[in-house]
Amino acid sequence: MKVAIGSDHGGYELKEQIKTYLKSKNVDLVDFGTNSGASVDYPDFGKKVGLAVTHENYDFGIILCGTGIGISISANKIKGVRAALVYNEETARLAKEHNNANIIALGGRTTTVNEAYKIVDTFMNSTFEPRHQKRLDKISKIEENA
Ligand code: RB5
Repeated sequence: MKVAIGSDHGGYELKEQIKTYLKSKNVDLVDFGTNSGASVDYPDFGKKVGLAVTHENYDFGIILCGTGIGISISANKIKGVRAALVYNEETARLAKEHNNANIIALGGRTTTVNEAYKIVDTFMNSTFEPRHQKRLDKISKIEENA
C-alpha cells in the first residue's frame, strides 16, 4: 500500500498524527508537505497530491486543510482526481464503495484524531462496487467536455 499525503497549516498537525499511525501499520507514505504550522496556501498541496495520485504509482491520497474543503476543491481541479471530503466512517466507506475516490480530504480543525484513524482504516478496508462505474464514466465525460 503506497499513500501520498499533504496538507496546509490547518491540517498539518492531524497530517503528522495520521503519518505516525499509518507508519505503525507499515504503510508506505510520501509526504508532500507542508512541513510546519506556518501559513501556506492549500491549493499548492492539493495540486501536488492530486498530480502524484494521477501520474504516479499511489494507491490513494490523503489531503488536509482546516476544514478539508479548500484542499478538496483544489485537488478536484486535476483531471482524474476524485477527492472526497469525508467526516466519519460512513462517508469514508461510501467514498470508496460508490465513488471510488482516489483521494480523501479531512479537516484538521473539524475532525478528531481518533475519528481520523477510523476514517483512514475504513477507507483502506472498503472496496469499490462496480455497479457505480457508469456514474464515474459520466464524471470523466464532464472533464473531457468542460
Ligand atoms: C486556512 O486558514 C484555511 O482557510 C484552510 O485551512 C482551509 O480550511 C480552507 O478550506
